Amino acid sequence: MRNAAITGWGMAVPERVLSNADLARMVETSDDWITNRTGIKERRIVGPDDSTTSLSVAAARQALAKAGLTADDIDLIVVATCTPDQFLVSQACLVQAEIGGNAGAFDLGAACSGFVYALAVGSQFVQTGLHERVMVIGVDTLTRFVDYTDRSTCILFGDGAGAVVLEATDEPRGLLSTVLGADGAGYKHLYIPGWGAFVPESAELFPEYRPYLHMNGQEVFRFAVRVMGDAAAEAVEKANLTFDDVDMLIPHQANMRIIDAAARRLALPREKVWVNLDRYGNTSAASIPIAIFEAAETGKLAEEDNVVLVAFGGGLAWAAGMVRWGTAGVCRDPECRKLGLAANEPERVPSGQSPDAAVMEIPTAGNG
Ligand code: ACO
Repeated sequence: MRNAAITGWGMAVPERVLSNADLARMVETSDDWITNRTGIKERRIVGPDDSTTSLSVAAARQALAKAGLTADDIDLIVVATCTPDQFLVSQACLVQAEIGGNAGAFDLGAACSGFVYALAVGSQFVQTGLHERVMVIGVDTLTRFVDYTDRSTCILFGDGAGAVVLEATDEPRGLLSTVLGADGAGYKHLYIPGWGAFVPESAELFPEYRPYLHMNGQEVFRFAVRVMGDAAAEAVEKANLTFDDVDMLIPHQANMRIIDAAARRLALPREKVWVNLDRYGNTSAASIPIAIFEAAETGKLAEEDNVVLVAFGGGLAWAAGMVRWGTAGVCRDPECRKLGLAANEPERVPSGQSPDAAVMEIPTAGNG
């Protein structure tokens, strides 16, 4: 059976830091409240020179370098985002304009669950044999749509991008199971009204349609606690594994209480759960690939590790998958890569130098 191993990873966040103390000067809130209710301490936010494109391109270039590939080697670019720089053309084409190549390129929208949806889509193109190498990017700049007078939403979000490269292998690597779901009827619990083709007929209504993110926090919280645990458990079962087989949980980084609930459902100790929301807040579609990058770069992922990815968000949508880490069976020879032939000898892509997340250099894009 053909699979799609993750052979490259990259990330980028803006340089500009917005701390809880900064927010406490903008709205009636406090570091204590934000930390206790969410776990977030600071987030990176885009500045005038940053964009969804600049963050994506930085992450994409890094993922290509890590995989030892160039843009010409990639057959398809899938970008998961709900904040593209423009509607026409796709964000994926804007990325390609910068990195080069002629891969197929399209966007996918599933809000915070977007990266896991896109990983499922990209993996299918490899598994069916249609493509050899696919780049999947998760990126969002939701702070452009945050109302900084609304204390219940402005504390949550940060910006960023993460990218992975998928390559064909005959070994059981990459996404081994997929769980996708949505409750479209609940869309109004988390959405950005008035940013799209729909224009309300009544001019009086127009102020209501300003392009700011609206959220019913408690409703989203209840939904998230339920689906994160259930979807993660289903992904494990679908891969014919047990909770004991799980080496790491990489959850969407929205709220520490939601992450804890998902970990409890899988009976996982805290050290097996990747958490970085204290430093980045909720980066929407970027949160999982950023966490993948950090886990890989700090040497926390080993060949054959079983990693559960699980996300929820606007839609209301959710997604989960079991990933078997490693590059066994991926062809490292440039000639056979060119021809798209399978490898004989398993080989491992070096996974970075830094042994500790605390000393890892955080890749940034733009000047903020
Ligand atoms: N600082 C201080 N007080 C605040 C703040 C704040 N930043 N925000 C709200 N409050 C107040 C409220 O006004 C309320 O006051 P009241 O009791 O006087 O009315 C009180 O705190 C409690 O408010 P709740 O909404 O009940 O607080 P809760 O514990 O639910 O926490 C939160 C709010 C953090 C938003 C939580 O509901 C949550 O995390 N929900 C999930 C949201 C989420 O993850 N969204 C992203 C989805 S991903 C995507 O697709 C974009």
